[in-house]
Amino acid sequence: MFSREESVRPTLYRGLKYWGKKPHNIWRDLIVENTNSGDVVYDPFAGSALTFFESIKAHRKPVICDINPLTLFLVDLYSKEYDLKRVKSLALNIINKIKKMPAYKNAYVTKCANCGKNVDIYNFKHLSGKAEYISYKCPHCHKTITQDNPIVPKFLEIKDLWMPTFDLEKLSSVTPAFIKKIGGKDITNLWTNQNITLLSILFNEILSVDTIEKDALMFSFLQIVHLTTKMCALRGKGANRPLSTSWGRPAYLGLTNFMEQNPIVQFERAIIGNTGVLKCLKSRNEYLPQYNYSSDIKDIENVDGIVILSDCKNISGGFKADFIITDPPYGSVIQYGELSQVWNVWLEKYDEKYKVSLEDEIIVNKNNPYSKYINDMTCVLKNCRNILKKKKTFILTFNSNNNDDWKALSTAIDNSGFEVVEKCLQKNKRSSEANVQLKEGIGISDYYFLLTENLIPNWRVECGTQKVAMIHETL
Ligand SMILES: C[S@@+](CC[C@H](N)C(=O)[O-])C[C@H]1O[C@@H](n2cnc3c(N)ncnc32)[C@H](O)[C@@H]1O
Ligand SMILES: [Zn+2]
Repeated sequence: MFSREESVRPTLYRGLKYWGKKPHNIWRDLIVENTNSGDVVYDPFAGSALTFFESIKAHRKPVICDINPLTLFLVDLYSKEYDLKRVKSLALNIINKIKKMPAYKNAYVTKCANCGKNVDIYNFKHLSGKAEYISYKCPHCHKTITQDNPIVPKFLEIKDLWMPTFDLEKLSSVTPAFIKKIGGKDITNLWTNQNITLLSILFNEILSVDTIEKDALMFSFLQIVHLTTKMCALRGKGANRPLSTSWGRPAYLGLTNFMEQNPIVQFERAIIGNTGVLKCLKSRNEYLPQYNYSSDIKDIENVDGIVILSDCKNISGGFKADFIITDPPYGSVIQYGELSQVWNVWLEKYDEKYKVSLEDEIIVNKNNPYSKYINDMTCVLKNCRNILKKKKTFILTFNSNNNDDWKALSTAIDNSGFEVVEKCLQKNKRSSEANVQLKEGIGISDYYFLLTENLIPNWRVECGTQKVAMIHETL
């Protein structure tokens, strides 16, 4: 194995946020080099479904699994043919309808300070609990304006509107201080009153669409739910980007100062913007051949790929793989399931096939000690031994700035009867999971390990911990 150069990510991969997306071109090279056309490629921790799409592109047959329904949603979304004009017109109809509602006009329309015409407020900047500034780009005089002392109208509540509900106290990564800061334990408190109401109106409009373009609109909706929470930090004045923010850190962030973004303006951007759904679908059409898929492994002979929404500990056979490539959870580094609740509370309501069960996630946190992570990873790796054909390759990626994560991984590898025979440090262009925590050093790279079957299973179990420490040091 050798270190490779990451290339620019095609737009289809840029639409939905997911932490630690792997470099697509490097994964495709690894897939192509280790398989022949038609071979089966397995990834039990598929995340943003990179292994699925790159295998399809390389005319291999992917079998992927993830416990997060976002994975299934992405494969499903890109499997269909949409009428892009209809996506756009449906979206614009919904946007125009909402813009006429008093709930919207009252909250998000003001007079341009330059030309006096009506403009949509792009965002409110909240400082210490109060909306101190607004910014907008006027469509009439084309000025981008930031104004202080905005008049904040009392928001009009709407009765009988479906909204998500979820008790954030169930999440190990949520602290009492966070709950206090956002004003309550229900997930609706992640948004201001006006934003949760407008998001719910928008969501209900999307639900009532009765053509397949509905999925494309839902994709845009998922692009904006986190960007309209109270967790979006203000950029420094020096950045001079009054219309821009992000939810950068992978944590539930209770911010004193935050940017409240207009969900309808954001939705419009998530339709026609640079990484909006129209561009993503166009990129998908250029990048991928058409494919069909099934979620039942029994269909493997008859489809182009399989995607399973499940706990991969349950997948121990039913097919054989010519190559396994996977990027397992890095101990406690990113709480994928907990953080994804911000999207998944909507997704489960959108379609019950996207049901979430956080309990089986392989992760380290307050409710899941290292011993469980080791057992779970051992189980998955043993399953992989059953699934991988003899003398075939297994590549696993990993990184962490925490030695306990390394020890746990190494113990699981040893226990499963695999052995690390090669390793490579792969520099990433963008954030790896660990980079979200570290600014430099190993954090901006990932380790790629080549595993083979250890012919004398379990002989290293007792010194597993020492061995991992050794791997880590020699790296
Ligand atoms: C490091 S991420 C993979 C990211 C992926 N490589 C990408 O490019 O997007 C690890 C993934 O493991 C998934 N996961 C955790 N526990 C799981 C389980 N029991 N079964 C299946 N997937 C699981 C998480 O949902 C997460 O998507
Ligand atoms: Zn103006």
